[in-house]
Amino acid sequence: MSRAWVDLVYLIAAVLFILGLKGLTHPRTAVRGNLMGAVAMLLAVLVTLVDQQVLGAGVFGYFLIFLGMAIGTGIGVWLAITIRLESMPELVALFNGLGGAASFVVAGAYVWANDHSGPEAIGLEISFATAASGLIGAVTLTGSLVAFAKLAGHPLLKKMPLIPNSTVVNAIAGGVTLLLALLCAVSRSYDLWFWVLVLASLGLGYCLTISIGGADMPVVIALLNSYSGLAAAATGFVLENNVLIIAGSLVGASGLILTQIMCKAMNRSLTNVLFGTLGPTGDTKDADEVYQNVKATGPDEVAMLLDVARRVVIVPGYGMAVAQAQHAVRDLANFLMDKGIEVEYGIHPVAGRMPGHMNVLLAEADIPYELLKEMDEINTSMEQTDVCLVIGANDTVNPDARQANSAIAGMPIIDADKARTCVVIKRSLSPGFAGIPNPLFSADNALMLFADGKQAVLDILSALKEG
Ligand code: TAP
Repeated sequence: MSRAWVDLVYLIAAVLFILGLKGLTHPRTAVRGNLMGAVAMLLAVLVTLVDQQVLGAGVFGYFLIFLGMAIGTGIGVWLAITIRLESMPELVALFNGLGGAASFVVAGAYVWANDHSGPEAIGLEISFATAASGLIGAVTLTGSLVAFAKLAGHPLLKKMPLIPNSTVVNAIAGGVTLLLALLCAVSRSYDLWFWVLVLASLGLGYCLTISIGGADMPVVIALLNSYSGLAAAATGFVLENNVLIIAGSLVGASGLILTQIMCKAMNRSLTNVLFGTLGPTGDTKDADEVYQNVKATGPDEVAMLLDVARRVVIVPGYGMAVAQAQHAVRDLANFLMDKGIEVEYGIHPVAGRMPGHMNVLLAEADIPYELLKEMDEINTSMEQTDVCLVIGANDTVNPDARQANSAIAGMPIIDADKARTCVVIKRSLSPGFAGIPNPLFSADNALMLFADGKQAVLDILSALKEG
C-alpha cells in the first residue's frame, strides 16, 4: 500500500476519532460517538497491518501480531461482558495500564530493532520521544495497577508496602527518573538505559499512587488515562505514525479535561487529591450533635406524600448504584407520571464513583434523557418541588458544603433541602465518601427512610398501588 493511501486512511481515522469524541459529549449521541471511535480504531489497525513499512521494520511478523490481537481481543471481550457497572473505573484502570505498557514496549522494540547502525541511526528528537514513552508508559502501568487493586479491594493490596515520607520519596524518585530519561535520550544507548529507565518509572508509578486514598482513585484514573494517551503520542513520534500521535494527543487532552471537571465538581485542587486527604476536619461537628432531630419514616407515609405531590425530583447517588435500584426507580417514576405528577431527576456531576455514573445507570433503565436535569438546572426549581426523593446520595446533597469551615466547603450541591419535603432513602446515618455528617438528615422538612435503596423504592411503589 502506498504512503499516500496509508496517510489518507489515517486522516479519515483521525477525523472519525474527533467526531467520535464530540459524540461522546451528549448521552443521545454517545453510542454513535463510541461506534465512530471503534471504526476509526479498526481502520487504523487494518491499514497499519497492510502498511509494508511496518513489516519492513523487521520487528513484527503476522503470526505474532495476530496471536497478540487474538489474546487481547479475548481478554477485552471477556472483561466487557462480565464487568459490573460499578466496577467500570477498575476496568478503565486496567485498560489505561495496558495502554501504557503497550506504548513503552512498542517504542523499546522499535529502537532496539533500529539501533544496530550506531547512535546516528536514531535522531535526538526520536530518542527523547522514546525516553518519554518509556517514562510515562511505565508510570501509567504500575500507577494503574495500584489504582485497580485499591478500587477492587484486591487482597494483594495488603501485601503492598506503603511508602513512609511519601512526598520526599516521590520527589527523589521523580528526580532520579527524569535524570535517567535524559541519560537514555542523550546516550541513545537503548539496550541498557531504556530498560533501566522503564524499571525506575515502574517504581515511580507505584510510589505516586500507593499513598492516595482509594476513594480518590477515580480522579487518579482520569489522570492516568491522560498519561496513557501521552505515552501513546510519544510512541507515535518514535514510529513516525501520525494517527498514533493524533489519537494519543486526543486521549491525553480529554483525560486532562476530565480530571479538571472532576476536581472542579468536588471543589478540590488536583494537588489536594494527589497529596492531601478528604475527611473530617477539626471543625467537623460530631454526628450525635448533628443528628439530634432525625425523623424516620416508612414506605406508606412516603407513598402518601407522593400521592398528593404535583412535582417530584429524584436525586440518585452512589447508594442507588450499589442497590441497583435504577429499574425500580424508573417504575416508580412512570407510575407517578401516569397519575399526572411531574417527575424529574437531579444529576450531580460527581454523584456515584465515576463520571456520568448516574446517567449511565438511568439510561440502562431506559429513563428518557429529557427527564435528567443537571445540578444547576434542577436547583432553580427546587423550591417549587413538593417531594425531593434522595436515593443513596449523601455528600452531593450535604448543605454543610455552604459552610466555610466544612471539609467539603464550596462543593456545589443539589439543593435537596430547599424542597418542601425531602425524603432520604439510605440504610443508616453512616457518612458518604467525604466521611462527614449531613445536616440534611435532621432538617425540619426531611424524613429518613432507612432501607436498601431498591427494596425501599419497591415498597413505596406497592404502597402507592395498594393505596
Ligand atoms: P456518597 O456521599 O458516597 O454517599 C452514598 C450513600 O449511599 C452512603 O451514605 C450510603 O449510606 C448509601 N448507600 C450505600 N449502599 C446503599 C444501598 N444499598 N441502599 C441505599 N443507600 C445506600 O454518594 P454521592 O452523594 O453520590 O456522592 C459521591 C461522592 O463520591 C462525592 O463525595 C464525590 O466527590 C465522590 N467522588 C465521586 C467521583 C465521581 S467522578 N463520581 C469521583 C471521586 C469521588 P448507608 O451506608 O447508610 O446506606
